[in-house]
Amino acid sequence: MSDKYDAQNSTESGEPISRRKVLAWLTSMGLLGSGIVTVFSNLVFIKPRATYGQPSRFSIGTPDDFPPGTRIAFGTQKVAIIREGNKMAAISTTCTHLGCIVGVADTGFACPCHGSRYDQDGNVTGGPAPKPLPWFELTLAPNGELEIDKSKEITAGKWFNV
Ligand code: FES
Repeated sequence: MSDKYDAQNSTESGEPISRRKVLAWLTSMGLLGSGIVTVFSNLVFIKPRATYGQPSRFSIGTPDDFPPGTRIAFGTQKVAIIREGNKMAAISTTCTHLGCIVGVADTGFACPCHGSRYDQDGNVTGGPAPKPLPWFELTLAPNGELEIDKSKEITAGKWFNV
């Protein structure tokens, strides 16, 4: 019995493993583990996990992709592209009342939340909306694609000629 006990508590070289060595090893492993967790959490903290949302400037395609009479909304970008003849405009689809997304209607734009109505140019025609829908700058990039810059509001009625 004593031989078996000694065999379980000794190293291969035959030296007995003391309780002190076991506790020191466990403490070292605990400190190493907490150090790794600390370093990892600091690295995660240093690298921001912020999302910056969608870019304010983006391409929507070439003018030929929007034949005259086009009135479509880009839901993800919250903007509507309007083309009348050779004139184009990019109008916000974010309601100026409380920010719901307005739908493109035959008469202009309609908000499903509280009933605000806008005409074809985004001017308020009814409901609680306090301001017209903003127009965004629309330009033609060197590669022939139309670009909208939502960071640049322009005067309503200032069409882009294609
Ligand atoms: S959010 Fe559009 S009418 Fe209130």
